[in-house]
Amino acid sequence: MDLFSNIDIEPARQRIAQLTTLIDKYNYEYYMNDQSLVSDFEFDKLLRELQELEQQYPQLALPNSPTKRVGGEINKSFRQVTHRFPMLSLGNTYSIEEIVDFEARTRKLLGDIEFSYTCELKYDGVAIGLTYRHGELVQAVTRGNGSVGDDITSNARTIRTIPLRLTGDYPDDFEARGEVVYPFHDFEAFNRQREADGDEPFANPRNAASGSLKLQNSAECAKRKLQFCMYFMMLPADAKPDPRLDTHSGRLEAAKSMGFKVQPYIKECKNIAEIREFIDYWDNERWNLPYAIDGIVIKVNQVSLWDQLGETAKSPRWAIAYKFKAQQVSTPLLSISYQVGRTGVVTPVANMEPVWLGGTTVKRATMVNADFIEKMGICEGDWLLVEKGGEIIPKIVGVDVDKRKAGARPVKYVTNCPECGAALVRAEGEAGYYCPNQDGCPPQIVGRLEHFVSRKAMNIDNLGSERLEMLYSKGLVTTVADLYDLTREQLVGLESYDADGLRRTTIQEKGAENILAAIRGSVEVPFERVLFALGIRYVGEVGAKKLARYFKNIDALIAASEEELASVEDVGEKTARFIYDYFRDERHRQLIERLRAAGLKMTVVETRLSDALAGKTFVVSGVFSRFSRDEIKADIEQHGGKVSSSISGKTDYVLAGEKMGPEKLKKAEKLGVPIISEDEYLKMIAK
Ligand code: IVH
Repeated sequence: MDLFSNIDIEPARQRIAQLTTLIDKYNYEYYMNDQSLVSDFEFDKLLRELQELEQQYPQLALPNSPTKRVGGEINKSFRQVTHRFPMLSLGNTYSIEEIVDFEARTRKLLGDIEFSYTCELKYDGVAIGLTYRHGELVQAVTRGNGSVGDDITSNARTIRTIPLRLTGDYPDDFEARGEVVYPFHDFEAFNRQREADGDEPFANPRNAASGSLKLQNSAECAKRKLQFCMYFMMLPADAKPDPRLDTHSGRLEAAKSMGFKVQPYIKECKNIAEIREFIDYWDNERWNLPYAIDGIVIKVNQVSLWDQLGETAKSPRWAIAYKFKAQQVSTPLLSISYQVGRTGVVTPVANMEPVWLGGTTVKRATMVNADFIEKMGICEGDWLLVEKGGEIIPKIVGVDVDKRKAGARPVKYVTNCPECGAALVRAEGEAGYYCPNQDGCPPQIVGRLEHFVSRKAMNIDNLGSERLEMLYSKGLVTTVADLYDLTREQLVGLESYDADGLRRTTIQEKGAENILAAIRGSVEVPFERVLFALGIRYVGEVGAKKLARYFKNIDALIAASEEELASVEDVGEKTARFIYDYFRDERHRQLIERLRAAGLKMTVVETRLSDALAGKTFVVSGVFSRFSRDEIKADIEQHGGKVSSSISGKTDYVLAGEKMGPEKLKKAEKLGVPIISEDEYLKMIAK
């Protein structure tokens, strides 16, 4: 060790401290107060300088460095952590009478003591607990089952409204609880992007927030614009007394000065009348908030009274949640539109008399499928009951039968495709109809092309919906294989309208070159994504991966029986039937041959890392910390080993993670098959 090394790094240490303070401050002002103190350029420069210093001196990188905001840590599975203080939930009710009872009971229990309540918004997000020691964030854990949750610290660090380091006066050791929410505006933008990429959109902001916190790569979580709203401070019994922390409202006020984002709407209420007023106000006003709330939380404000009131097994007696009812209106059904998707599935959409509901005008809502209309018994001209809960999308929940006109006839479902006129088909056991004219129905053809070029599939940039529609309408492309036959001459000079339909654009030489280059480049896309790109019904991204891994190449997949297909992890019987039928169709076989001839990958490219496991057969069971189960199986194969699903005399090793199945354990012991851990496995392949 160089005697002077510490002296050498001292200036770096100082600069890191300086940069950290500065960037933390800019971040805080930007995300909490909507204030930019520096230009984006200047900010990025400082951040980059810090990143470079941390790379150069890894020993100086702080665990809560602002560089952690951009993420990058990978979590194969999340460590399970026992909560120091169990995360109780609240008793909740939809009835105002029960709130009246709660208030009366509390007053009675407390007798002559003077006290008050706080009323605050109940966020509709994901509850997490943040542990701070000496002002530093040390751990973030999801609620889980209340006693044990998942350690999501690296993802939490990317949420800008979670302070990594506290400011001012703070308790030495405490837990900050709150809700991670996805503001509507950002959630909608995110969902739009997902749809453009060919991913399934999330049903609501809560699901998206919850999914984001469980992302394995924290850099991905950093891209989601999640927010943390703090609503509770949990102090250990031996915490240093601090008069600011004697009331719940005081705690939230103090939390604000420590750097947390706390809702500004908290109100101290003296009696039931004031509580009611708060509830009524927010029942209407909630639609004007930038994020979802699903009720109001009422807490006794004086912390010293909490122990006195105590708690039941599940929830404290000093707090209660009032949940808002979903808002409902009824409005006449005017007509039904039928939308045809890329797989030919027809979705009926109700066009209704516009009606004001939960902050927006509603005039359209999905009727899901033919089954839905039949089950609800919807008649022509019916008044539909439309509901909006915490979610953004209004739902049809029933029919206002009292308003039905005498003699109204049940809705007659279309018999022919509204796009191409083909007679619709309803397969046995299916809830809806589909258009079988896959080669002649425009939305199906263009939809398949769109899916094929999307980012998660072949990722062919430069070909948006407008261009694909144009290529189709000019007769240049009808199947995905036609894309690979396009020439420069065909493209140059083609005209189309851009997305808003206003501006006409013409493809120039350069544009044509770019399109062709993107198409040519797509032949490098791995087999699993080619398989996904084909757009076989029910074969999503994950299913395609599993199938590719199992069958290794398209020919084995084509030759597979329905039973064999259904034996693949995550492939159900229905999907297996669709895959099987897909490959029995001569047109699809021809399409695949053309794609093969164009150079697309039809085989898994095996990356052989070593032969360390050659000739060895493994059975994998349980949950692993560094790999998902699929990843560890792939890893075994990449090192020359074989993976089998059941233990037999031929099994060489059982690779056991946490929570290995007891049956497997018994069998392995009986047959004397060695059971190895993840660490032992890693040693084996390191050889
Ligand atoms: S206080 C011991 N305040 O609602 C009291 N909870 O069942 C801890 N929630 O799991 C909870 N907004 O996830 C509290 N302003 C708020 C809240 C809130 C949302 C959630 C929380 C909790 C559930 C209650």
